[in-house]
Amino acid sequence: MQAELVACKSYAASRGDMETEVLGTDGAGIDRAALLLRQGALVAFPTETVYGLGADATNDEAVAQIFAVKGRPSFNPLIVHLAGPFSEVSRYAVLPAAAERYLARGWPPGLTLVLPLKPRSGLSPLVTAGLDTVAIRMPAAPVAQSLLRRFGGPVAAPSANPSGRISPSRAEHVLAGLGGQIAAVIDGGPTQKGLESTILQFPGTVVLREGSFPVDDALPRATSSSDTPTAPGQLTSHYAPSGAVRLEAETAHADEWHIGFGAIAGDETLSEKGDLTEAAARLFHLLHKADERRIKKIAVAPIPDTGLGRAINDRLRRAAAPRT
Ligand code: TXA
Ligand code: MG
Repeated sequence: MQAELVACKSYAASRGDMETEVLGTDGAGIDRAALLLRQGALVAFPTETVYGLGADATNDEAVAQIFAVKGRPSFNPLIVHLAGPFSEVSRYAVLPAAAERYLARGWPPGLTLVLPLKPRSGLSPLVTAGLDTVAIRMPAAPVAQSLLRRFGGPVAAPSANPSGRISPSRAEHVLAGLGGQIAAVIDGGPTQKGLESTILQFPGTVVLREGSFPVDDALPRATSSSDTPTAPGQLTSHYAPSGAVRLEAETAHADEWHIGFGAIAGDETLSEKGDLTEAAARLFHLLHKADERRIKKIAVAPIPDTGLGRAINDRLRRAAAPRT
């Protein structure tokens, strides 16, 4: 309840247009970004998955701004980004042995863990949306690492897109969605993986979200696709471009823009070679392109539902779901 009040108040304050600084990935850019975060401003930055919209995770007003500019329902909690070392995790969360097993060779790129929250963590309650768990990730991308080290604290960051829209895999995508509403974006070019992180919840090792870190097909999946989520982040219509999306399209109708895969060439392809890693990295880029070109109807070729294909199909199903 309190979270909602804070989010509404800062919405009014954030409506005026501001100039969004585009920062480089050099020392000066990172210094500036860290300073802005310290001042409570919002800074978008590249991780290996997608661009995140960062705020100081201990600053209530800064975190409230995230909900305000994204238009994000305040029941939906945020991922806390840490630089490392692993001992940092224990300030905020309990790390069960089953979770530690995933970290034996360092924090895997593209993996987020949902863990029991420690009392007196110092995190803004808005970050966890009042839950007794917290989502934590240590990004591998060097730019994200530099920023987190320079800032020296936990950074709350959802994907840097308006709520319900496509996640950004390039700085241009961030500017198209949130330009004029956030202090800065660090332009680190296209992200390496192009899809959000995989989210695993402990204890229990439940997959809350398929993503760029491939996990065992046998692991339990949280029941998703609810319009009234109790577990957050499971909205049926999500990652949506402006145009309508039709799936499993081996051929396209005359009025459709066809996204191909493998042997199906389409107007543009996710991967001519039928490579799922390449397809994941290009997916949001092509959906953003459809928006830029104001395409009204998009048809997408079938994607195999194995490995990374599960995460790609999850995003495509949500993009194609009836809009609420
Ligand atoms: O790759 C990524 O994960 C990107 C980069 C920026 O880190 N972040 C991202 O954040 O995709 P976001 O907010 O767009 O999606 C995070 C998801 C949401 O669906 C949220 O509900 C879920 O994580 N989440 C966060 N904390 C949670 C918690 N304590 N329990 C369950 N789900 C949680
Ligand atoms: Mg998101």
